[in-house]
Amino acid sequence: MVQNMNYRKCIVEAVNGNRSVIGNDVHRLRYHLMPPAGLLNDPNGLIHFKGVYHVFFQWNPFGTKHGRKSWGHYVSQNLTDWTLEEAALVPDEWYDKDGCYSGSAVEHEGKMYLFFTGNVKNERNERSTYQCLAVSDDGMNFEKKGPVLNLPEGYTPHFRDPKVWKEGSRWLMVLGAQNVSGQGEAVLAQSSDLEEWEFLGPVAGSNINGLGNFGYMWECPDLFRLDGEDVLIVCPQGLEAKGDFYQNLYQAGYFTGSFDAGKVSFEHGTFAELDRGFDFYAPQTMQDDTGRRIMVGWMGMTDDREQSHPTLSSNWIHALTLPRVLGVKAGKIIQKPVPELETLRGAETRYELNMHPSEICTETVSPASEIAVNFDESLKNGFEMEIRKDIRIVFENGKFTVERDTFDKTGREQRAVELECLDKLQIYLDHSSAEIFVNAGEEVFTCRFFPDAENNDISIGVSEKHTVEFCQWPLER
Ligand code: FRU
Repeated sequence: MVQNMNYRKCIVEAVNGNRSVIGNDVHRLRYHLMPPAGLLNDPNGLIHFKGVYHVFFQWNPFGTKHGRKSWGHYVSQNLTDWTLEEAALVPDEWYDKDGCYSGSAVEHEGKMYLFFTGNVKNERNERSTYQCLAVSDDGMNFEKKGPVLNLPEGYTPHFRDPKVWKEGSRWLMVLGAQNVSGQGEAVLAQSSDLEEWEFLGPVAGSNINGLGNFGYMWECPDLFRLDGEDVLIVCPQGLEAKGDFYQNLYQAGYFTGSFDAGKVSFEHGTFAELDRGFDFYAPQTMQDDTGRRIMVGWMGMTDDREQSHPTLSSNWIHALTLPRVLGVKAGKIIQKPVPELETLRGAETRYELNMHPSEICTETVSPASEIAVNFDESLKNGFEMEIRKDIRIVFENGKFTVERDTFDKTGREQRAVELECLDKLQIYLDHSSAEIFVNAGEEVFTCRFFPDAENNDISIGVSEKHTVEFCQWPLER
């Protein structure tokens, strides 16, 4: 307990000690949740509990590397105004001494139950994993109850990220795992009381359900029913890039199909990436009191690019995406920014641009603003847009491409998706990020970028005559 208080005191000191350097960083975001200091990765424990939204996050408050993780904690009444609370979980027990890793939250009999992975390493750097429980009456103070599920036979210690939900009278848990043959899997456990858990087996994975070789580890699974489909979100590691697919180091995507908890099976179709951009990983969803399925992702990735983030010199790195409402249409996930974000709109500017081929229209925008671009008719070809002299969007020959400067500014990189036609764009621009929603959430590109502070122009061009509506709402706070 004493150690626990000291650890928490050190976190507060780390945050206070970095306040001024971080406060002066031009790359700090204004719509997005960020670490108050240090490194943030996965969103955890998303829950709408007693009318309050809770978003926890993987957090190393003491540095910008992936060290021992705590659970940072943000709360909100409305998904737009967030308050940072004291860290919910810190790595201070034998079963989590090297990190309170990712997990989820559920409500039961008025209490909040957090499930997380206790990460432990020995002197030889060998890993052990414990699936743990912590309980809270008020959603602020958590009492750890310790491990509730041990590592089952047939799996390596890469077994983590419990996501729990209720189905009928029993509780189910899906976890990310690696079996002893080195294949990634999503596995299932069940419980009648949230305290004792029974391992059931894999529901999907590499070389299961006819999937073929599909990665050496699956992280951060989530399983839910939406619009008449069962959806399994997973983050496979070890997929090779193929054309426009799997361009990031690790992938975040989903399968839709039919889940049968009784048979411990999930019949599913092909894997689809959730986001086409450069910086998206480890998403998690919650169902809120209005019944919406809301997803938040990590706007980052554990890869070499982390070392060239310009924010490192201000002792912080990474952020979460905006909350997005999910829907399923013809087996495909559609993502839209939560409508609550519209309450942040400042004074609107709206132009009707009667554009001719080869003409370029330029608008100056606020570095934190919502942008909408609508076309008089579906574009089949020929659109381009440049954002703050860094991001370039091109729609040409059935391909929608987003290009940006590399973080170290030595080159350019791009991501692309095939797209039949372009109807509209909605872009949340923040000081060092852009979330680009294409055709009302049919595709999303999430990108961090680090433009020069003086460049605040957006320019657009079309290759055929069109009326283009351009709207901007600067963030009003
Ligand atoms: C995903 C992940 C999880 C793990 C956590 C540790 O980014 O590797 O599998 O629980 O991060 O911070």
